[in-house]
Amino acid sequence: MILTLTPNPAIDITYRIAAVTLGESHRVEHVTERAGGKGINTAAVLTSMGVDALALAPVGDATQPFFAADLDGRGIRHHLVRAPRPTRRSVALVDDAHEATLFNEAGAPMPDAVWHEVIGQVERLGGAGGVLTVSGSLPAQSPTDLVARVTRAAHEAGVRVVLDVSGPALSNSLAFAPELVKPNRSEAIATLTALNRADPAASAAEPLTETSATGLARLLVEAGARAAVVSDGAAGLALAAGSVSLRAWLPKALQGNPTGAGDALTAALAASLDDLPPDRLPDDREAWAEVLRRGVAWSAAAVLQPVAGPIDPGDVARLLPTVEIEETLS
Ligand SMILES: Nc1ncnc2c1ncn2[C@@H]1O[C@H](COP(=O)(O)OP(=O)(O)OP(=O)(O)O)[C@@H](O)[C@H]1O
Ligand SMILES: [Mg+2]
Repeated sequence: MILTLTPNPAIDITYRIAAVTLGESHRVEHVTERAGGKGINTAAVLTSMGVDALALAPVGDATQPFFAADLDGRGIRHHLVRAPRPTRRSVALVDDAHEATLFNEAGAPMPDAVWHEVIGQVERLGGAGGVLTVSGSLPAQSPTDLVARVTRAAHEAGVRVVLDVSGPALSNSLAFAPELVKPNRSEAIATLTALNRADPAASAAEPLTETSATGLARLLVEAGARAAVVSDGAAGLALAAGSVSLRAWLPKALQGNPTGAGDALTAALAASLDDLPPDRLPDDREAWAEVLRRGVAWSAAAVLQPVAGPIDPGDVARLLPTVEIEETLS
C-alpha cells in the first residue's frame, strides 16, 4: 500500500473567465472547487492505475467535510488529520488568452501537535513493507526538519520513502537516506546550491546550472539519497542509484497540460518500489530501466489530462513501448 502525505493541502478553486483585465472587476460564472495538493494528486493517479493508495493530510476542521466528500466522490481513500487552522486555497484563473494564472496561499502555520499526529499516522498507517510519498510545500513557519522527522519515523516503521519536496525540506532529509528523491531540475539545483553553501570544496566544482540532470541526480545520491530521479519537463528524466545512471524520455514531447506530471511521476516511482520486496531497491540497470519506463509513461499520460489527478491506463499502455532509455556517464 502506498501512503501519500500532503503536508500543505489546498482547496483548489478554478475561476473560468473569458477575458481578464488587471485592475477591473470580473463576474465569475463558472467556478469549480476540489480537494487539492500534490500528495492528493499522487493518490488520485495511483487510484486511477488500480494501485492501492491512501491520502494522508492535515485538513482544517471546517474543511474536513468538503475534503472527505470530494475524495469519496472520486474514489480516493483518505485519512484526514484534524487541524485547528484553516486549509489554504489555491486559485487558478483560467481565461481564453493565457495559460492558467495561479494564486497559491502559503498555508497557515500548524501547531506542533498536528505534526505529531501526522507522524503518528505515518507509523500506524504506513504498514511495514509499504511506501510513503511526501509531496509539495509545507505551511508557513513549519519546522525545517519536518520531512526529515517523517522520513526517520517511516523508516523505523519499515516503510520506504519517496520525497517530492524541495528547499530545506529536501536538503535536511537527505542525511536520513530516503529511498528515492524526485525534484525537478530547478528544485535539484536550488537544493544542491543550499547544501554547497555549507561545503566550501563544492563551490570549486562545475556550476550546477551547467550540470546535466544525471549529474544533479548523482550529487543528490552523494548527499545521502539512496536513489534520485531529476525530472526535466518534456526532456524526460534522469536517475542515479548505486552504480546505475540512466536517462529516459519520450521521442516526441506531448502537447497538453504539464501541471501534475511530476505528481504522476512520483506515483509511478512509488508504485514501482511497492512492487519490490521490502528493504529492496532495484540493484541492476534493467530493473531501474523498467522503473523509469513506467515513470515517463505515467507522467506523460498526465500531460494528456486537462487537470492534475487521474490518468488514463489506455494512454499509459500506448506510451510505455515508446519510452527511450540510455545509460549515461556521471
Ligand atoms: N510536454 C511533455 N511531454 C511529455 N512528457 C512530459 C512533458 N512534460 C512533462 N513530461 C513528463 O513529466 C515528468 C515530470 O515533469 P516536470 O519535470 O515538469 O515535473 P514537475 O516540475 O515536478 O511538475 P509538477 O510539480 O508541476 O507536477 C517529466 O520527467 C516527463 O517525463
Ligand atoms: Mg514537482
